[in-house]
Amino acid sequence: MDEPLSRPPARLPHPELRPAGDLLRAGRAHDRAGRLDDAVAAYEKAVQIGETSGERAVLVEAQRRLGVVHYRRNNPVEAKELCRKSYYGALAMGDLILAGEALNSLGGFEFEAGHMVAARTTYEKALELAFSSEELRGRIEQNLGSIATLHGDYALALTHYQRSLEAFSEAMDERGCALAYHNLGLISTHQGDLEAAEQHYTRSATIAARFGDVHLQGLCNLNHAEVCHSRQQYGDALRRAEVALDIFEQLGARMDKSAAYKVIGMVFRDTGRPVLAEQRLRASVDLAMETGWVLGQAESSRELARLHQMVGRNQDALVLLNSAHQLFKGIEARVELVDVSKKMGTLEETFLAVVREWGLSIESSDPYTFGHCERVATYAVAVAEALGLDDMQKTTLRLGAYLHDVGKVRVPHEILNKPGRLTDDEFEQMKLHTIHGVELLAGVEFPWDLKPLIRWHHEKLDGTGYPDRLRGDEIPLGAQVICIVDVFDALTTTRSYRPAMTREVSLAELERCRKWWRPDVFQAFMSSVGAPGWQDRAPAVV
Ligand SMILES: [Fe+2]
Ligand SMILES: [Fe+2]
Repeated sequence: MDEPLSRPPARLPHPELRPAGDLLRAGRAHDRAGRLDDAVAAYEKAVQIGETSGERAVLVEAQRRLGVVHYRRNNPVEAKELCRKSYYGALAMGDLILAGEALNSLGGFEFEAGHMVAARTTYEKALELAFSSEELRGRIEQNLGSIATLHGDYALALTHYQRSLEAFSEAMDERGCALAYHNLGLISTHQGDLEAAEQHYTRSATIAARFGDVHLQGLCNLNHAEVCHSRQQYGDALRRAEVALDIFEQLGARMDKSAAYKVIGMVFRDTGRPVLAEQRLRASVDLAMETGWVLGQAESSRELARLHQMVGRNQDALVLLNSAHQLFKGIEARVELVDVSKKMGTLEETFLAVVREWGLSIESSDPYTFGHCERVATYAVAVAEALGLDDMQKTTLRLGAYLHDVGKVRVPHEILNKPGRLTDDEFEQMKLHTIHGVELLAGVEFPWDLKPLIRWHHEKLDGTGYPDRLRGDEIPLGAQVICIVDVFDALTTTRSYRPAMTREVSLAELERCRKWWRPDVFQAFMSSVGAPGWQDRAPAVV
């Protein structure tokens, strides 16, 4: 905790004449006021004088504080060096609390750099030294709680935050207690204990109000609003998020404003006010982008995508989902965070839902193909499993199956539903659905490579397919899988030009045409979708 500033003398004596302790306190004052140049100068002087005067406690503390400022100014090497000196100096004089402080700072550097294992080890070592200072113990437990949260270990995080609360209570540190309650609220939310979360946020906000921490009150209101949103208490959610927005506006906290706009946008979206929702969510994405807050940008883009999905703007939704996916991936590449991996997983589910809905909306106007995409997706995943493909490939196939015929929206209705044979000219137009499909997706990047499946799902191994008359290995494996299950589904369902064939007749037909597909694909199909009793084993379509 910051040491209280003694009243400054009316005129400061020349630095050379001032004791190191005074310089340390002056450095702290500059530091808190954001005057980092002055802070560095004062700390450096304190170090210099402390080295000669023998004021060792002041020396190690000035070294540590100087290190922290260097870290904030992007000099991590110097920062670590100073904090290490501080640590060994404190150990040499037997001051375990100061040694613990130095380790806590070093742990913080590791944490900021995304080195979570090193950060945890350092914090744990700091904790061993900090047993006699409740206040320092409280802070270290908070830091350990943050690491556990990022790793998705909420039970452990809860333990750390509870210990932190106990330590701060013993130290009678109100600010610490308020922070601990706030973090306990976050963990309870993650764990789905929304009632406990609300209680923690209320406690935290009450204490924060008592000692005038407006920012923390804003955060409590905002996080409380998110809980209300999850509980579908939209009125409360909106009221709280707007209180938070006002606070952040006054403080000029733009990143937090972005988070508040996100919650407000979600409330408008989920209460049927799409225009207001879009404004707020866009404001949230823009602010996150302007402030370089990548995680916030990813989360707000995802929420905006959900809005687009709800109003049937599937392509817009997919563009945003892809940008969110890229952002999450960027974060994940920098730091190993379970939390981000989980968010990626949820995002991929949303992708699947939007693509599925899009696929279904295309076929909804056509009674003959209703259910086609869903069945093709189910069959394709079964064949993929028989081929031993990995999760990524299975997801690609599932999504490709939903969208394989997306280009048919550009084929005239009369051709699509013509009873009887198509003329050559009509067939040429029909074939173009493969190319139209890829064109329709031109503006949409996917984390999965769907375009080859859409363009080439009518190519055949012997070169008689379309649109590019590819042969043999030129055809991607996934396109071959879609092709065989697509033909099977076409045969087994009623079309405008003929009734459905039985399963047996359809399988015999596939056997007759087996040269169209790679042998492994044909075998995988026969051992899965084509096997007797497959329907009984087929997984439920979700
Ligand atoms: Fe097709
Ligand atoms: Fe198809």
